[in-house]
Amino acid sequence: MQEKYAPLFEPIELKHGGRLRNRFGMCPMVVFAADPATGNPTEEDIKYFERRSKFADLLLTGAITVQENIQGHPKQLALYNDDAIEAYSKLAAAMKSNGSKAIGQIQHPGREGAYGCYVTGKAYAPSAIEFPFLQYKVTELTEDEVWQVVKDFGLAAQRLLKAGFDGVEIHGANHYLIQQFFSSYSNQREDYWGGSFEKRMNFAIEVTKEVLKAARAENPDAIVGYRISPEEIHGEMVGYDLDDSLKLIDKLLEQDLDFLDLSSAAGGNFGKDAYKAMPQKGDYTEPASLVIKNFVAVRVPVVVSGTIRSANEALDALKYGDVASMGVAALSDPDFKEKILADKEDTIHMNVKGHTDDLELPSGLVEVYTAGIGLPQVEGLVEK
Ligand SMILES: Cc1cc2nc3c(=O)[nH]c(=O)nc-3n(C[C@H](O)[C@H](O)[C@H](O)COP(=O)(O)O)c2cc1C
Repeated sequence: MQEKYAPLFEPIELKHGGRLRNRFGMCPMVVFAADPATGNPTEEDIKYFERRSKFADLLLTGAITVQENIQGHPKQLALYNDDAIEAYSKLAAAMKSNGSKAIGQIQHPGREGAYGCYVTGKAYAPSAIEFPFLQYKVTELTEDEVWQVVKDFGLAAQRLLKAGFDGVEIHGANHYLIQQFFSSYSNQREDYWGGSFEKRMNFAIEVTKEVLKAARAENPDAIVGYRISPEEIHGEMVGYDLDDSLKLIDKLLEQDLDFLDLSSAAGGNFGKDAYKAMPQKGDYTEPASLVIKNFVAVRVPVVVSGTIRSANEALDALKYGDVASMGVAALSDPDFKEKILADKEDTIHMNVKGHTDDLELPSGLVEVYTAGIGLPQVEGLVEK
């Protein structure tokens, strides 16, 4: 290995669950392989993760919904009863087969539950607003239903730990339900869950409390992380800005979290250097990720992600965070880290064309890309 890459292989201690042996992360990615009836992981999920078990020490599943029939996508993972634990234990074992940490990302898509809406006719949201970008109407969650979602996040966390996962990540990013509650654009409630900035934080805080309680009751050493999108700004529409995020992060870190994961490429921001994108609002002179890293200081490790596409970019990303996490790179080259170790980083594939047989990519993932939905581009996945 070239000496300059040594920082990528420095271990880092987590408050719970031991240490990460290196600074590589694998981003959470829905790969459209779950059993369509139950949402359980299938053989395809297991093979996909076995192939990626050496990609990073911090391995994340794609978003797992915490209730039945609320998925954003067909074949998205779901976990809402004990019967599923056996199937999830096989997935945990595949992820841990080379000593990496298996982390399940838990999610409620809220208004983005398009597939659930297709199945049941309903998608749920903090407020029943007519969203111009949705082709269906949303149903407002009642106060009791919101508390039920909070409980179901905890139950999903507990089940993942029972299945042998090392921990969970709360999906508070990418415009899904937790972010919808935090957003002044999406949350127009006037109860405990909205009506002021403080109250718009309540859902994120209550979910985090519940997940920490449930996870640590199951395993005192459970790793619990939180994923956040640094800003919600689309032109004139500002759900929240980086100042707001810092306030939420401060509140969340009053609790015993183990890492903070920044989702810096979403909402179409799939361009170059997303991991070090400048904030869109405010008088900042540094990238959003660096502002957050400095703000968090040493309280917890910060995971950065977004268009990290080469060994040099992974190294560069460590200026902005403690772990460099990759999505598309994990799809196109599961041997990314091994190639750096073997001094062969110039052979890392960022194009899947011609070697897909070796990648164990689920067929549903290829189908979704062929249908052309708005996901980051994976070069060569779709025949042109
Ligand atoms: C196929 C695919 C599925 C994704 N699913 C999720 C998901 O389930 N949860 C999530 O937080 N982000 C999801 N993302 C976003 C990634 O985690 C990541 O933030 C994004 O791809 C940017 O990183 P990259 O440029 O290294 O791919 C997904 C991305 C891709 C490509």
